[in-house]
Amino acid sequence: MKAIQIQPDKSLLWQDTAAPTPAPGEVAIRVHATAINRADLMQRAGLYPPPPGASPILGLECAGEISALGSGVTTWKIGDRVCALLAGGGYAETLVCPADHLLPVPTGFSWAEAAALPEVFATAWLNIFMEAGVESGQKVLLHAGASGVGTAAIQLCKQQGNPVFVTVGDPAKLEFCRQLGASAGHVRTQGDFEAAVKEWSGGEGVHAILDPVGGNYLEQNVRLLATDGSLVIIGLMGGRSAPLDIGRLLIKRIRVIGSTLRSRSNADKALLIAQLREKVWPGFENGTLKPIIHKLYPIQQADAAFAEVASNATIGKVVLSVT
Ligand SMILES: NC(=O)c1ccc[n+]([C@@H]2O[C@H](COP(=O)([O-])OP(=O)(O)OC[C@H]3O[C@@H](n4cnc5c(N)ncnc54)[C@H](OP(=O)(O)O)[C@@H]3O)[C@@H](O)[C@H]2O)c1
Repeated sequence: MKAIQIQPDKSLLWQDTAAPTPAPGEVAIRVHATAINRADLMQRAGLYPPPPGASPILGLECAGEISALGSGVTTWKIGDRVCALLAGGGYAETLVCPADHLLPVPTGFSWAEAAALPEVFATAWLNIFMEAGVESGQKVLLHAGASGVGTAAIQLCKQQGNPVFVTVGDPAKLEFCRQLGASAGHVRTQGDFEAAVKEWSGGEGVHAILDPVGGNYLEQNVRLLATDGSLVIIGLMGGRSAPLDIGRLLIKRIRVIGSTLRSRSNADKALLIAQLREKVWPGFENGTLKPIIHKLYPIQQADAAFAEVASNATIGKVVLSVT
């Protein structure tokens, strides 16, 4: 089979490599589309190695057809159209993954649309509704609102009845997020977001913050949380350290949660996938949720696709077509 291989100069080449075979409890998938996540850019740069046991090939999600079953797999059959949450291996013609990390391709979705779903909807659901335990009506602040994760999170919050404030990089992204369901927002290049969020939240603060920025947002985030609120940090795009007023954590009973999806156990991921199937996937069938795709590239042009993601100009997902 062919797969993307990272070259010594960090360029990405579509080259021959050995095809994997499914172990007990796994399936093999003939991949038709995969999608880019920020983690892939970090892995290519040598800053985010795959967890132990994961494929060294890039790619945290895919859509395709099941081409082989490992022993003991009874829940899927060869030919089923699936999308998958992966610990790695998506940038390839064939991959293997646990059978309980799969979801059906929603009715009428293309391969590209299905490949744009698993990682961002899993990340948004896990961190807002499972980790932060947000309840209907509570206000949520989303940083990088126009990112892949952000556009999934806006839709899920709207569906669950949670008003959302976003921060984004430019006015066009803000308008897109509003159309998608955000109540309000702030352009991060136009100064701090704290005053705008405070005004929007009526002074009481927000119940949860989904934050991929980290360091340089920490102090403002903690000041903006309501009593019993949660800050879920999922990325470090703004640095990995910052001063923290611990007194505020105590007085407001704030929880600061660090969270990564990729490194979780297979059993934890299976539980998350089961929740997505029950609570999120019906939204793709009834049209309340949709994939947001910025652009589709052939996988042979992965270098150009990565450059576009790194430019911060994208809204939603950049998808790679494998057929
Ligand atoms: N922990 C986890 O399990 C997990 C899982 C998935 C993703 N993530 C993280 O979530 C984030 C979003 O991922 P994605 O794949 O959806 O990304 P993406 O679509 O590539 O979007 C990332 C966006 O972040 C904004 N950004 C970039 N640098 C920034 C900075 N220094 N400060 C503030 N904003 C900045 C840019 O948008 P604007 O210019 O509009 O702000 C950029 O377009 C990434 O940090 C990723 O690592 C974490």
